[in-house]
Amino acid sequence: MLSKTTGKPPRPTPGFGGLRRFRTPGISAVLLLAAFVVFAAFTLIAAGREFLPYSSAKPILDVQRDHLPAALQNADATKWAAWARQEDETIRARLEQGDLDSMVNLLLYGTSFTQQPRIRMESLTEASKTGVLRSRVDDLVAGLRSPGDNERLVFLNGLLRSKGIDPGAPGATGEFLYKNLLRVLEERKTLAARAAEAKPASLLDRASLFADRGVSLDTSILPDFSIEQTLRDLKKRGVLREGQVARVAVIGPGLDFIDKNEESGYDYYPQQTLQPFALYDSLVRLGLAKNNAVSLSIFDISSRVIDHMQRARARNNTGYVIQLPRDIARPWPPELISYWRSLGDQVGTAVAPIRPPKIFRPLNGGQGLETRAVRIRPDVVLACEPMDLNIVLERLNLAAADRFDLMVGTNIFVYYNAFEQTLALENAGAMLKPGGLLLTNDRLAEVPGGRSSMRLAGTTDVRYDDHGVSAHEPVGWYQKLVIRN
Ligand SMILES: C[S@@+](CC[C@H](N)C(=O)[O-])C[C@H]1O[C@@H](n2cnc3c(N)ncnc32)[C@H](O)[C@@H]1O
Repeated sequence: MLSKTTGKPPRPTPGFGGLRRFRTPGISAVLLLAAFVVFAAFTLIAAGREFLPYSSAKPILDVQRDHLPAALQNADATKWAAWARQEDETIRARLEQGDLDSMVNLLLYGTSFTQQPRIRMESLTEASKTGVLRSRVDDLVAGLRSPGDNERLVFLNGLLRSKGIDPGAPGATGEFLYKNLLRVLEERKTLAARAAEAKPASLLDRASLFADRGVSLDTSILPDFSIEQTLRDLKKRGVLREGQVARVAVIGPGLDFIDKNEESGYDYYPQQTLQPFALYDSLVRLGLAKNNAVSLSIFDISSRVIDHMQRARARNNTGYVIQLPRDIARPWPPELISYWRSLGDQVGTAVAPIRPPKIFRPLNGGQGLETRAVRIRPDVVLACEPMDLNIVLERLNLAAADRFDLMVGTNIFVYYNAFEQTLALENAGAMLKPGGLLLTNDRLAEVPGGRSSMRLAGTTDVRYDDHGVSAHEPVGWYQKLVIRN
């Protein structure tokens, strides 16, 4: 979500955690760097995953007393542990609804199962009158019945079955598609009304807009651009220094199944994740990290994200290809276009992109898609280690030396209420080195009264200016406090 401009963010106190430097880039240094990455991955596996302990939750429960769920009123350690387990299940259960939302996005924008034009939300009534919607539903029903090797359809076929719907029964499948389309439409209306009424406390505050929505895996290049611009800003301000970042975590990288926004909703290439590779790429481009000296943890609650990354790592000699389409008709600012052009050049090599289907070609009305593809190097893929972790409730019990220099979580905390956001902030803080940073495009409430281990140190307001309309995305930098005795 893009928001209007902010004023200048306050300057943070420097004091970012200690990092290593390698003087000579000879063979021994390269071996040392590789050994470091393997060692870092090993220590992470060895680290225990635990629920946020009651002792850390208590200050948050105390200050949020009036806003707590009933099960946490007058909580003690036992009540807290029971609630955390239950809440973990509740959060994970939201993924299914997110998958059903993706099914609707596929119905409207997908091109892998139909020749019908894509349908914009605004032109749904028209598409219904002309029969385009009906034809798309029929084509998707047929695709779901016989998915072949279309991985998106194979996944949805399994999802339907898990809901007791036989994809071979066209009536039930069509009805299910329409029912979910209507639900998504209603939900969009509610969200739009909520957004119009919201009184955000600050520009970064997105008022937990998606707190009762299904958790989706949607991802695109845009948040990665925001993060690169923020890192650039942090370097310029001296908050981050050359070669300073080695241990990194991405919270919720997502999986590009088909985006909820039509402008990045594509299904003509295999499902892909972008953020871990884009972040590694940005860190090297900006000189904040050394190539081959980054260990990158991926935390997610989605088994689809985790399995996807594990499979990518298992194919360890082939690397990982990312497809980067750009709709020429979209008014991207020059900085974003140049980011799109360079994305991946520090971590891979350009390869021939998959050709988009005819529907995207200029003859069909649009200006068409410009496309790039990059094969990410195997060592970079192997440096990215996925792990199941619910950031709202869980943390890794890391030794001080193994904690992260930098964590990134975009378009994730907007799915949670203020209480859950505070829990997540504390969990991230527990895994950061003193002075380490969490970058996110949401305002996360700190525990008041100076009892938080994290504080908002500043904001970078990323510009998406185009056609005279001022569009911005603020990214907050939360810093782990440096405790001095
Ligand atoms: C909407 S996607 C955002 C993807 C990417 N960060 C981006 O900005 O494009 C949300 C991602 O966060 C993950 N996620 C949601 N809640 C989470 C939680 N409590 N802990 C860890 N991951 C979570 C989802 O599974 C998904 O991968």
